[in-house]
Amino acid sequence: MRVLVTGASSGIGRAVCERLLADGHSAIGIARDFGKFPCDDRRFEAHEIDLADLDRLPTHLQNLVATYPALDAFVLNAGTGRFGTLEQFSYEQIRALIDLNFTSHVFVARAFLSSLKKAGRGHLVFMGSEAALTGTAQGSLYCAAKFALRGLAQALRAECARAGIRVTLVNPGMVQSPFFDELDFQPGPEPDNYILPEDVAEVIVQALTTRDGTVLDEINLSPQKKVIEFGTRKKK
Ligand SMILES: NC(=O)c1ccc[n+]([C@@H]2O[C@H](COP(=O)([O-])OP(=O)(O)OC[C@H]3O[C@@H](n4cnc5c(N)ncnc54)[C@H](OP(=O)(O)O)[C@@H]3O)[C@@H](O)[C@H]2O)c1
Repeated sequence: MRVLVTGASSGIGRAVCERLLADGHSAIGIARDFGKFPCDDRRFEAHEIDLADLDRLPTHLQNLVATYPALDAFVLNAGTGRFGTLEQFSYEQIRALIDLNFTSHVFVARAFLSSLKKAGRGHLVFMGSEAALTGTAQGSLYCAAKFALRGLAQALRAECARAGIRVTLVNPGMVQSPFFDELDFQPGPEPDNYILPEDVAEVIVQALTTRDGTVLDEINLSPQKKVIEFGTRKKK
């Protein structure tokens, strides 16, 4: 399989790439900075693109479609967590969060769908969250973007099934990753307080390798115990 993974430089996206490579597949990674994921595997190709720059994104995508006309699957995973009451966000911050966490995924899917439909097969995996299932205080924008991704995934699943394209939404609870580096909370320290990026990678690869004709529509994963630590923001 040849799989394009967004948000591939750290956390879940990196774990997905590592798992794909370990299983003998190829991965194309998208993120802004691969300095933190040096990988000399020849089956891994990295492209440094700012997905939140929606003005330039269509041109980048046109180049990617031309370079990779026959990909098997996409893991649309890039995203960032920003939390607070709605009025704490500037208008610019609101736009930036929705641009990255929702609209950039729509653009990537839109760019590649025609070639997938022509091929009569393909798989889109969207990275949702438990925040795609339940709205929570201080999470209005993050939840809104993830709910929107869930709606997109459901609609595309219905729209693209006849063309042989599968659509999966993955909804993890708290995953121990750099996601929390700039947040003032994180999962508790015990191993049953968090999911590992490798756990999420495992279910994604399972969804991708399920027999054609079967779709894992939505996958929800949670840490066994939901323990959250507050006041954890790392001092710079
Ligand atoms: N951690 C959790 O508890 C959790 C739970 C549920 C869902 N999720 C979701 O899982 C996804 C991955 O999160 P993670 O936990 O793996 O966090 P992470 O380690 O911070 O990974 C985020 C990835 O997105 C990339 N990214 C961020 N802004 C970008 C931009 N403007 N353009 C291109 N790439 C960008 C980052 O790379 P660069 O910084 O190099 O650009 C990085 O590779 C997110 O969608 C998140 O909402 C996370």
